[in-house]
Amino acid sequence: MADALKVGIAGLGTVGASLVRIITTRANELAVTCGRAIEVSAVSARDRSRDRGVDLSGATWFDSPEEMAASADIDVFVELVGGAEGAADRSVRAALTRGLHVVTANKALLARHGVELATIAEEKGVLLNFEAAVAGGIPVIKALRESLTGNKVARIYGIMNGTCNYILTRMEKEGLSFADCLKEAQRLGYAEADPTFDIEGNDTAHKLAILTTLAFGTQIAADEIYLEGIGNISIEDIEAAADLGYRIKLLGVAQRTESGIEQRVHPTMVPRDTVIAQVDGVTNAVAIESDILGELLMVGPGAGGDATASAVLGDIADIAKSRPGAQRVPVLGTPAAALAPYQRARMRSHEGGYFIRLTVADRTGVFASVATRMAENNISLESIVQRASPNGAAGGSKTIILVTHATTEESVRKAVAGIKAEDYLVGEPQVIRIERPKAF
Ligand SMILES: NC(=O)c1ccc[n+]([C@@H]2O[C@H](COP(=O)([O-])OP(=O)(O)OC[C@H]3O[C@@H](n4cnc5c(N)ncnc54)[C@H](OP(=O)(O)O)[C@@H]3O)[C@@H](O)[C@H]2O)c1
Repeated sequence: MADALKVGIAGLGTVGASLVRIITTRANELAVTCGRAIEVSAVSARDRSRDRGVDLSGATWFDSPEEMAASADIDVFVELVGGAEGAADRSVRAALTRGLHVVTANKALLARHGVELATIAEEKGVLLNFEAAVAGGIPVIKALRESLTGNKVARIYGIMNGTCNYILTRMEKEGLSFADCLKEAQRLGYAEADPTFDIEGNDTAHKLAILTTLAFGTQIAADEIYLEGIGNISIEDIEAAADLGYRIKLLGVAQRTESGIEQRVHPTMVPRDTVIAQVDGVTNAVAIESDILGELLMVGPGAGGDATASAVLGDIADIAKSRPGAQRVPVLGTPAAALAPYQRARMRSHEGGYFIRLTVADRTGVFASVATRMAENNISLESIVQRASPNGAAGGSKTIILVTHATTEESVRKAVAGIKAEDYLVGEPQVIRIERPKAF
């Protein structure tokens, strides 16, 4: 049997501690499947005295990930610290530069510096694996990077943030407000103390930026994503969606259009009878539509110590099985030097169906005026209903709910601006885009 693969793990938190435990308890099985043992030879975290519930006695301790990256006693550097800058960035660069294979679960780092890091890895002929960075345990990176080679991807979309999906699921199932569900998510440890990054869609955007590059062969463009979080989704929206046969999910969507690539993260209505609409709680799902394969949908655990460590371990096992000097799969699916510049499609050109909810003064002529503003902008309606406003809404008001056929974002914005210019609107209009899965 070949020499053991010596792994250095930086970060011993939720994911790092799970990984150490799994490598230790599955040592025999791993040695058989990989053809060589996998050994945790070094670790690094901030607090040396903290009990992490795992046996670290065989590993050399480093106070700094950068020092560990310089150690002669590791073959693979595993980064589970987190953050786009600082220790994670410096140590990953140092490890790649000296020719070590790297495994990371860090979406923020890849969304920010992925192309640069891939360039270093490819120059050095080493692997930079990051399966856990998108949708946790779901093997979507490998699917895009390897299994779908030769396919032309038309659209990729998914539920990639467990916190948001948990909140939206609870709101619908229990009829609770966004604020109450967020508190519950924090109590259960699904949401961070500062949940802004999750609920405003930034976490999903980081993951989407990585998937876009793998799917379309373009440079990573994390700052070119249209972003809307779930903070202003109300129970009223969720109930109206349900009445119309839809559920609301925070989706990240990347799509090839005639004018470029659309990348967007926003609350989205999906038909209730589709598989993605039924993905509840902290579970993630990613769908890929491509020309040769058709539609592929993967559903599974998107976070958590063990699920994420499972993906990290798969990446380490790939390195253990690889032969020195062998041709490497390009880090981002396409060699970093051959990635095309990212061309952003304008959000105003986005085409799709829309849900529009308006609270308006309860008087004659309003319904006709709303319908006219839609017609003026060539928006054809699938349905338009009016109903009494829910208890507690402004007195003398009613709600108008419209669902459009496919139209453009530009037309919807103009129609809504026209309605806002009238004197009957009470409060802000709600606009939610509709996404229709192709096959499932
Ligand atoms: N948790 C998940 O479900 C999940 C899912 C997918 C991807 N990820 C990604 O996996 C990575 C790790 O996440 P996590 O949830 O395991 O994080 P975590 O529980 O916060 O653990 C972070 C670890 O990094 C260590 N650390 C932080 N700054 C350090 C520094 N400057 N030098 C040395 N060590 C440092 C911490 O040390 P101390 O313990 O001593 O403080 C801790 O052990 C992140 O990139 C995250 O985005 C996590």
